[in-house]
Amino acid sequence: MDKQNLYKQFSKPLLNWFALYGRKNLPWQLPRTPYRVWISEIMLQQTQVQTVIPYFERFMQQFPSIRDLAQAHEDEVLSLWSGLGYYSRARNLHQTAKKVMQNHGGVLPDNYQLLNELPGIGPSTAAAIVSQAFNQPVAILDGNVKRVLTRFFSIKGYPEQAQIKKRLWELANSCMPQEHCADYTQAIMDLGAMCCTPKNPNCLNCPLQNSCLAFKHEEQHLYPTKK
Ligand code: ADE
Repeated sequence: MDKQNLYKQFSKPLLNWFALYGRKNLPWQLPRTPYRVWISEIMLQQTQVQTVIPYFERFMQQFPSIRDLAQAHEDEVLSLWSGLGYYSRARNLHQTAKKVMQNHGGVLPDNYQLLNELPGIGPSTAAAIVSQAFNQPVAILDGNVKRVLTRFFSIKGYPEQAQIKKRLWELANSCMPQEHCADYTQAIMDLGAMCCTPKNPNCLNCPLQNSCLAFKHEEQHLYPTKK
């Protein structure tokens, strides 16, 4: 499918669905600043939205800016993290805040490569930040997105396998529109969480039903392929 068709059959219906049903009141969306997007994306890496919300609120109260975070003691950061688990995330967060103060004048870089090099920020988190905080057309590829894409394009094979993963990154970036990039990133995550779910996906109410190859062949349950 060419870019124009992908927009018509994938990105546009997805954005329209998001306008009606997507999540637009998450705390890190009000306001959607780079610092808030970064902190939320790290917390959301291994933790559910509903669990993250109170932690995020407390974190913002304690550390309203990157400078506040950079100047804190590690113990303080870790104690606010207590209960969220995966504590290396908190240590990396703190390290990154210090690096941003030292190397980037206290401003989170609006550059995918630079973000990707910071502690705790991998390719998908860097993409989540530049798309949501800076509205740049860079695609994420997390578990939800892998499920949506493997179903829509009927991509067979284990998604963590190098060849399959490369193909999924390409598709993810082909689907990313040039406008409304922040909403699009939230939209594809929301579709995966609310509609294109692992079990019993709600295909009859899915905005992508018309062109989804898995739906066409009644094979939603076969994607993504297990190891
Ligand atoms: N998981 C990672 N980022 C997220 C976001 N912005 N909204 C919901 N779930 C997420």
